[in-house]
Amino acid sequence: MRGMKHARLIRIAFASLLGLAVAAGIAWWQLNTASRMATSGLPGLGGPFTLVDHTGRTVTQADFGDRLRLMYFGYTYCPDVCPTELSAMAGALDRLGPAAERVQPLFISIDPQRDTVSHMKDYVVLFHPRLVGLTGTPEQVQAAAKAYRVYYAKAPGGGADDYLMDHSSFVYLVSPAGAVVTVFPAKTTPDAMAEGIRARL
Ligand code: NI
Repeated sequence: MRGMKHARLIRIAFASLLGLAVAAGIAWWQLNTASRMATSGLPGLGGPFTLVDHTGRTVTQADFGDRLRLMYFGYTYCPDVCPTELSAMAGALDRLGPAAERVQPLFISIDPQRDTVSHMKDYVVLFHPRLVGLTGTPEQVQAAAKAYRVYYAKAPGGGADDYLMDHSSFVYLVSPAGAVVTVFPAKTTPDAMAEGIRARL
């Protein structure tokens, strides 16, 4: 009788300990997940890149100091979407005033065949004095686009040098460490973009 009571007590104690361990495990997992989200931003999006800027210098994601990166992938021959988005980025920076110094706008070509370094140099100044144009080898561009899950392809029906590019259109706000913290969909207004950037400055 006494032995059975003892065994029952041990079973209850064991079950309680097991319950505590499970609860502690869940709490740890939740904390861990929350902190991972806070430090890495949108999981699986973004990453390091190596490209060539519009002055011919090879640069990586790490070359823009402690500024937030405001990034857009497109091409200089784009008739409408790219100019609209680059203008929105410039407009957002204008609205930020002096705080815009803490943001680095980047335009990454997905058409390296035509977007040469000198062509990028002539193009970026049309939008913002601090806009950096990035191009590179087809492989470098492909790797950068893949990291940001950017779709791009030559549109059917064009010639060898006269063609349109199909491409996804998002403006990415990226931390100095390379984490994507905000994605602005196409047609975000300069006001909304400025507000989104200010929230991260
Ligand atoms: Ni475009």
